[in-house]
Amino acid sequence: MEMTLAKTPENRQVLFFTILLLLWKSCADAIIYSIPEETESGYLVANLAKDLGLRVGELAIRGARIHYKGNKELLQLDAETGNLFLKEKPDREVLCRATEPCVLHFQIILENPVQFFQTELQLTDINDHSPEFPDRKMLLKIPESAQPGTTFPLKAAQDPDIGSNAVQNYTVSPNLHFHVVTLSRSDGRKYPELVLDRALDREEQPELTLILTALDGGAPPRSGTTEVHIEVVDINDNAPQFIQSLYEVQILENSPLDALVATVSARDLDAGIYGKVAYSLFQDDGISQPFVIDEITGEIRLKGALDFEATPYYNMEIVATDPGGFSGKCTVVIQVVDVNDNAPKLTISSLNSSIPENAPETVVAVFSVSDPDSGENGRMVCSIQNELPFLLKSTFENYYTLVTEGTLDRESKAEYNITISVTDLGTPRLTTQHTITVQVSDINDNAPTFTRTSYTMFIRENNSPALHIGTISATDSDAGSNAHITYSLLPPHDPQLTLTSLVSINEDNGQLFALRALDYEALRAFEFHVRATDRGSPALSSQALVLVVVLDDNDNEPFVLYPLQNSSAPCKELVPRAAEAGYLVTKVVAVDRDSGQNAWLSFQLLKATEPGLFSVWAHNGEVRTTRLLSERDAPKHRLLLVVKDNGDPPRSASVTLHVLLVDGFSQPYLPLSEVVQDPAQEGDDALTLYLVIALASVSSLFLISVLLFVGMKLCKRARSPSLGVCSVPEGHFPGHLVDVSGTGTLSQSYQYEVCLSGDSGTGEFKFLKPMISNLMVQDPEREVKESPHCRDSFVFS
Ligand SMILES: *[C@@H]1O[C@H](CO)[C@@H](O)[C@H](O)[C@H]1NC(C)=O
Ligand SMILES: *[C@@H]1O[C@H](CO)[C@@H](O)[C@H](O)[C@H]1NC(C)=O
Ligand SMILES: *[C@@H]1O[C@H](CO)[C@@H](O)[C@H](O)[C@H]1NC(C)=O
Ligand SMILES: *[C@@H]1O[C@H](CO)[C@@H](O)[C@H](O)[C@H]1NC(C)=O
Repeated sequence: MEMTLAKTPENRQVLFFTILLLLWKSCADAIIYSIPEETESGYLVANLAKDLGLRVGELAIRGARIHYKGNKELLQLDAETGNLFLKEKPDREVLCRATEPCVLHFQIILENPVQFFQTELQLTDINDHSPEFPDRKMLLKIPESAQPGTTFPLKAAQDPDIGSNAVQNYTVSPNLHFHVVTLSRSDGRKYPELVLDRALDREEQPELTLILTALDGGAPPRSGTTEVHIEVVDINDNAPQFIQSLYEVQILENSPLDALVATVSARDLDAGIYGKVAYSLFQDDGISQPFVIDEITGEIRLKGALDFEATPYYNMEIVATDPGGFSGKCTVVIQVVDVNDNAPKLTISSLNSSIPENAPETVVAVFSVSDPDSGENGRMVCSIQNELPFLLKSTFENYYTLVTEGTLDRESKAEYNITISVTDLGTPRLTTQHTITVQVSDINDNAPTFTRTSYTMFIRENNSPALHIGTISATDSDAGSNAHITYSLLPPHDPQLTLTSLVSINEDNGQLFALRALDYEALRAFEFHVRATDRGSPALSSQALVLVVVLDDNDNEPFVLYPLQNSSAPCKELVPRAAEAGYLVTKVVAVDRDSGQNAWLSFQLLKATEPGLFSVWAHNGEVRTTRLLSERDAPKHRLLLVVKDNGDPPRSASVTLHVLLVDGFSQPYLPLSEVVQDPAQEGDDALTLYLVIALASVSSLFLISVLLFVGMKLCKRARSPSLGVCSVPEGHFPGHLVDVSGTGTLSQSYQYEVCLSGDSGTGEFKFLKPMISNLMVQDPEREVKESPHCRDSFVFS
């Protein structure tokens, strides 16, 4: 009945009165008032006087008071009016807690007469509290193995309100795994339970958080929330699984012990202890494998030496086990990589280290190469230095021959160091080297070579015998006896040259010696060939020309040709007294068999009967008067001249000249007739003869005209001149050279012509040219006899 509450306070009040009246009438024992909790103080609960059926003021007269019986003094009575007011705001949850209904008992006591009225104040609940969870967070651990439908109780939310204002319903935030059911306890309080809809998987979602909401039944409803944190508890539901089912690794065969080969890794999705895996080898084949695996880290390491040549690869199975007994397997294929750890080997099977230089392609060495490595590491390449005249030839697999490329030349290189390099193609490349020394043996293929093609040697005449003239020398680029040279003289081309009596040669060192004293005047030069021969087999030789030039010594004194000195009847020169100063008395002619400076003659007047009357020209031997002659001058004069050559030391000859001063010439001496009358002496050469004749006639004409001229002059000057006689040697002195006639000097051209006519034109001039170019072995006697005039003309020129 008390639940029928009006909507507004006024209505409510009216309704209350009605109810209270009814209550009071039906149950006379107690007056019950009901008000909602949290009503403001001063609220008029009821008019007590009216409810008790008393008059207005009677309450005051009778001293009415309220006895609360230990309850909270909530009410205040206005005794005059009988109105009962609310003294303070009541809170049901404080006054009654969970007691329902919440009734506060008190008594109205009246005196005179004493009267008690039992009164009750009932507080009705309003929804003034929200549900509240004891914790802001709830933690829930649920194993992942929990089956769907499993329920998990949750703490209920508190709501001090009661009845429908208390918690009515629980909800949970939307999620895949849970829903919540609201259950009632025996006392009617609601509590939530979490129901698993779908199995949990820790590996997928290890934890989740739900928002649990509690709703009360008030209008409007109030709510409270809390977080439900769910941890999914792992179970060993996963086997270890390798990341790769097949590991392929390569390892160098020379890897050190304990080298890391590979690291395998298995995953167990389980957490905690179930997620821990242990690795081990699964040794199914009998081979003891040189590897160990670390149980915890899965590192496979090398524990023994590898040899590619023995085991090129390994196949291992590895298991990973978790403590729950689940396991997984993987395969590790380990390939041993060949390492180029063996250098090639070279084996010489035959070697001929001495090769004759003229041998054609010759095998020097035969060798084989080997390398225990495999693949590229075992493939080899052979080479020698590029610049050598040798070739490597591959005969068959890994067998090689070293041959010469062709003939060798010991003279350019006598020894070869051939380095054979064998390199394999591995990484890194390994090389073996072997050096072969090849000696090239000598063959006599080089003739001795003279240092010069011709030698010119000079020797002064009158040398002492066995004088060393010079040395010839030849070299031979061969070796040993092939280079041992002996020297020899070759027979001269000129059969008249008795070479063996002139020179000798030292056959070992090529020194040339003169065997006897040489005479320049007899032999001016000679040439011969020398030969150098080696001792090879067959011997080779070469020749050179040796020219020996004899140098002149001043070993001949001048020889006076005119005037003859040994004649019994000495020649007398006639000089007319009328001769002018400078009159050519005569010309002294002398020769010297030496040559050059040694034959360069000069004339000097040494002594005279009357000094100062005659002079001699130093260079041409012309004797002339120096002044006019006078009657007082003695008719006979003797002059002593000396002819000196220019040698060192000079040699000289003296000439005695007799001069006769005459008063005049009756007949000049004409030597021309002699020349004309004696043509046989000139030889058979007709041309020369004609030339001489022509010259003689020209000379005669010239002489005649000169004489005529002189004669005319003499006729003018003097009286009849007397003619002297000069004895001229018969036929020995060619008178056409010396002018004995009047006036004097012969012209140069005239002298040359005489010279050319007197000889065949060879001789001194040419000999003075470089001797080497025009070497002639001349007959010295013939030359001296035939060309005194040339010599003279050279002297005078
Ligand atoms: C509780 O709340 C849910 C969702 O709001 C609703 O479906 C359900 O009927 C309510 N239960 C009660 C007993 O009111
Ligand atoms: C080396 O070769 C040369 C020429 O081919 C030969 O004369 C000689 O006997 C060989 N020597 C050896 C030791 O084989
Ligand atoms: C060859 O080698 C030897 C020894 O090393 C050395 O004495 C010689 O001079 C070398 N010959 C040449 C031509 O290099
Ligand atoms: C004079 O000398 C020349 C040359 O030497 C000679 O031919 C001649 O016979 C000599 N005369 C006398 C008389 O001795």
